[in-house]
Amino acid sequence: MQHPFSVEEAIRNRVSVRNFKDQSIEADKLKMLKAFLNERYNPFNHDVNFHLFEMSDFSSSQKLGTYGVIKGAKHYLGASIDLREYALEACGYEMEHAILFLTSMKLGTCWLGGTFNRKAFAKSLNITDGEILPVITPIGYAHDQRHIQEAIMRRMVKADQRLPWKDLFFYEDFHTSLLEEHINNYAFVCEMVRLAPSASNKQPWRIVYHQKAFHFYEDQTPGYSTAFLYDIQRIDMGIAAAHFELAAKERGLQGCFVFNQNHLDVLPKNMHYAFTWKCL
Ligand SMILES: Cc1cc2nc3c(=O)[nH]c(=O)nc-3n(C[C@H](O)[C@H](O)[C@H](O)COP(=O)(O)O)c2cc1C
Repeated sequence: MQHPFSVEEAIRNRVSVRNFKDQSIEADKLKMLKAFLNERYNPFNHDVNFHLFEMSDFSSSQKLGTYGVIKGAKHYLGASIDLREYALEACGYEMEHAILFLTSMKLGTCWLGGTFNRKAFAKSLNITDGEILPVITPIGYAHDQRHIQEAIMRRMVKADQRLPWKDLFFYEDFHTSLLEEHINNYAFVCEMVRLAPSASNKQPWRIVYHQKAFHFYEDQTPGYSTAFLYDIQRIDMGIAAAHFELAAKERGLQGCFVFNQNHLDVLPKNMHYAFTWKCL
């Protein structure tokens, strides 16, 4: 049985940690994490494979590194997928759920989608042909201070800020802002999406509420994913789905994710339909 935790508290407390204390993770916490990883779920009907490992499992010649971005972490969790439709969203969903769980145990994490030696990690973890390792996170206790490179990175992407509600949530179409009174208890759920982490803090999620359904769209940043073989912002969309569903369930709101429900003929430039939450 998973140890239950407050989703709202974990979402509000989570912050990327890139500088770690030289402190081991207690055996009971690692045991709880392993139990959690055995009971995962995502709404995208796609398997995600998790890899929990210690840096000391590998020899120093294996060049596993994070280009100096992460300092002091001994434990890591990686997620691998085969790159089929909705696999990236599934990966975003499950990894964020794990990260919120770790946050609830007072453990620090940091999504890494770019600044790690992907090839070396994938090879050392025996990621099979046909699978990719899009993300990993270090796990450990946060150091009291951020390192300098970390402080600079946070400033560059305005990591402490989020887009305002009016830029993210819409009513019927993309021309009308969503008001809290349109959606009652779901205002809290949307706020939990607004606080989510994303690659370079770009927050690509947009939601249009229409006839008791929340339609999710990706406002794709032009050129952002050209460094990857895939659209990394689809991982962000999976994170948004996780925050939405976990927050809805915490408030007792019934619904489920469904697909191919776009009701709009014309979308703003670079906007792509992703999936829909249907209220029940
Ligand atoms: C999919 C994804 C990939 C990310 N990749 C990196 C990365 O490669 N290196 C890094 O330092 N931070 C990375 N981040 C962390 C984001 O920069 C961070 O979540 C964002 O700036 C918001 O800051 P916060 O997590 O402290 O709220 C990534 C986040 C996500 C969701």
